[in-house]
Amino acid sequence: MSGNLPRLIKAAKDAAKNAYAPYSGYHVGAALQLDSGQIVTGANFENASFGMTLCAETVAIAKANSDGQLNQITAIAIAGGPAKFDMSPDIGVDPITPCGRCRQILKEVADLNALDIPVHCVHAKGHVTYLLSELLPHAFGPANLE
Ligand code: THU
Repeated sequence: MSGNLPRLIKAAKDAAKNAYAPYSGYHVGAALQLDSGQIVTGANFENASFGMTLCAETVAIAKANSDGQLNQITAIAIAGGPAKFDMSPDIGVDPITPCGRCRQILKEVADLNALDIPVHCVHAKGHVTYLLSELLPHAFGPANLE
């Protein structure tokens, strides 16, 4: 698993090149690690009606769902920054962490696999890993509705 981390982080950085972010110019890529070893990526997808923007993490999770792999997520890597000439993100010194909405969406899918998933947040010199429960303590999740 941990041997796959460099690959997962590279996938997130590569995915950021595909961001559609003409309004913010901020490119984000997310990469989900699946039980199978497969990686599913997403990039942020903005809209002229700004509030309709989809974050990279949410796009990746929706892709996994569409492929019938929603309950197989074991980790996520996120990379982002202002777009460079080649459309890759110019990654800053502070790690990018998921927005509040994405943390809640991650909680939903992590619970499907009964895991407190690691969230690998990329910065200029490497990455910082948080557990989802650190980023979203005392979370409301599927179990609350049982
Ligand atoms: N964004 C993400 O894709 N994921 C995050 O976790 C933070 C923010 C996107 C949304 C918007 O397109 C751009 O970054 C600037 O907020």
